[in-house]
Amino acid sequence: MSNKQTPHIKPNGVEIAETVLLPGDPLRAKFIAENFLEDAVCFNEVRGMLGYTGTYKGKKVSVMGTGMGPASIGIYSYELIHVFGVKNLIRIGTCGALQKNIKLYDVILGMGSSTNSNYMHQYNIPGELSLTASFDLLLKAYNKAQEMGQPVHVGNILCSEIFYNADKNAMENWIKMGVLAVEMESTALYANAIAAGVNALTILTVSDSLVTGEETTPEERQTAFTKMMEIALNLA
Ligand code: HPA
Repeated sequence: MSNKQTPHIKPNGVEIAETVLLPGDPLRAKFIAENFLEDAVCFNEVRGMLGYTGTYKGKKVSVMGTGMGPASIGIYSYELIHVFGVKNLIRIGTCGALQKNIKLYDVILGMGSSTNSNYMHQYNIPGELSLTASFDLLLKAYNKAQEMGQPVHVGNILCSEIFYNADKNAMENWIKMGVLAVEMESTALYANAIAAGVNALTILTVSDSLVTGEETTPEERQTAFTKMMEIALNLA
């Protein structure tokens, strides 16, 4: 039994799997553990950021909340990689569509992550590094979505550190550059994974459209999210 712990994750000896699903909302982690995993055991309660380890189709998998924004997922993903040896980090979350052809509930796979945050400055890259998902995870997720008949888009996503932007035109140039959707965590996740040589992917369900102003209701979201979780769980 391992006694490893960090300031933010105290598993009290409960193992964390090599593959971890990362929803932003810790209650969604609880939902996945209770509805999809067998023999799920809670491994973290620090700051209410619930984490569980169980099995899915016989394979060990963990699921843990990340909170919102690059700073929060940056902390959890770093500790999961560097202290707990996690090798596959799969974010599952919601996003706002930035292109007209993308509909509510469509799934988006973040092949690349662009950002307005300064998260990358810490690496002192003498230029701009393109942050990309693990091709292996991306391909598997794409194939699974196709098999399920789930509408899926693959491309660049924007990791914004601002939800309520004072500049109402802040998305305009990202839209012009073909970015598919906006969310708030992918850059920190991909940066930490790439810097450590492990695998990461962001899977998103469209919860609102910044182009048409459409929004989903909480009830409708549950079913849509179930499909995304199924795609993610099959990567374990
Ligand atoms: N912005 C940022 N993150 C999001 C959004 C959004 O509009 N919708 C869902 N996640």
